[in-house]
Amino acid sequence: MNIEIHISHGISGEYNIPGDKSISHRALMIAAIADGVSTIEGCSSAADPLSTRLCLESLGVTFDSMASHYRVEGRGLRGLSGSRKPLKAGNSGTTIRLLSGVLAGQRFSSEIAGDVSLNNRPMLRIFEPLRLMGANIHGTKNNTAPILIDAVPDLHGIEYTMPVSSAQVKSAVLFAGAFAKGTTTVREKIQTRDHTERMLGLATAVEDGVWKTSIEGGMAIHAQHFLIPGDISAAAFLIVAGLIVPHSSIRILNVGLNPTRTELLHVLKGIGASIEIVNERVLAGERIGDLHVVTSDLQGDMMLQGETVAKVIDEIPILAIASLFSKGTFRIKNAEELRRKESDRIASMTANLRTIGVDVEEYPDGFGFEASGSLHGGAIESFDDHRIAMAFGVAGLMIPGITIQRAECADISFPGFWGFLH
Ligand code: S3P
Repeated sequence: MNIEIHISHGISGEYNIPGDKSISHRALMIAAIADGVSTIEGCSSAADPLSTRLCLESLGVTFDSMASHYRVEGRGLRGLSGSRKPLKAGNSGTTIRLLSGVLAGQRFSSEIAGDVSLNNRPMLRIFEPLRLMGANIHGTKNNTAPILIDAVPDLHGIEYTMPVSSAQVKSAVLFAGAFAKGTTTVREKIQTRDHTERMLGLATAVEDGVWKTSIEGGMAIHAQHFLIPGDISAAAFLIVAGLIVPHSSIRILNVGLNPTRTELLHVLKGIGASIEIVNERVLAGERIGDLHVVTSDLQGDMMLQGETVAKVIDEIPILAIASLFSKGTFRIKNAEELRRKESDRIASMTANLRTIGVDVEEYPDGFGFEASGSLHGGAIESFDDHRIAMAFGVAGLMIPGITIQRAECADISFPGFWGFLH
């Protein structure tokens, strides 16, 4: 499906966004292995969390759902059953990596694989710690999916310092730790999103600048009522649309404001964005609020490097688009991880920015450009990457003649996105 984007002369009104994708995956998995009946309210209906749900169904979990409201019969820590067919993780890195953590500790064998994009993404990062715990887990010779996980009698706890900044790896190890003998401790130098810790009620401490979280094997996982806040990484596209399109004033409702996810707001405020948090409250252990965004005279350079990169990892494509309209330079460094996302996002961004007339420089670990006055339309290649498609969709509100090719990939995280833009 190709979508032609129309210039906008102003956006206004109130917007509801999908439930947070990261929290939705975790709620489905925790509910599946909990004792008793959990309910999940506001679960994302996007394709990625749906992959998690379908995998869990193949493992014997039943979900009753009405719209985004789920009732889940928890199977208990030892109650999942093996799937006769390989599990399908679709495009979802969170599904394959977190679920591998759960499956590594089971007394049955599993196979899990994804689509072409997911089957090219690195999995050694989960194999290494899971093997240290005693898991029998293998991928292809390139350490990619399909992943085979053989039954083992028991995993054992480990102390693990993360070599890459990754909430998916951290969560895979913590999930495996629930099935291991003894204590599993994960240390990370840069704190990545901490939803797993919060949702499992695990304590996190900072020691000498390093974040440390432990889980006790066999701990009781209680059924819960999960209330999923709106996804700030999805809101990011509407925020930037509201900032760059003249005469705009929008309110985005019930946005999750977990401090590990809000760095994008600071980055945008750094170039003069007017984003006000209103109606702020804490719901089910997560800070949420409404965001009031008005058209802003964006000014100045955006430089993303070091810790900041990990903190805005999913928002980099749309931050680059915001920067395009800020009359300054954009530069991102230390971002090799971007090459390992749903597409190689350094290559995808560079190619598409060139298509619309931006003089971009590509580095091994990032890219940079100076805002140019002479932007023009063109055919944007989504590379089947939802965040690339949506970022350039937003640019199309300001640049005439932008078409997004294979735009349906937006459904991975934001069903109905194209309706928001029209
Ligand atoms: C996620 C972690 C991040 C992020 C992804 C969701 C999660 O991936 O990019 O969209 O839910 O834990 P990494 O752990 O690979 O950084």
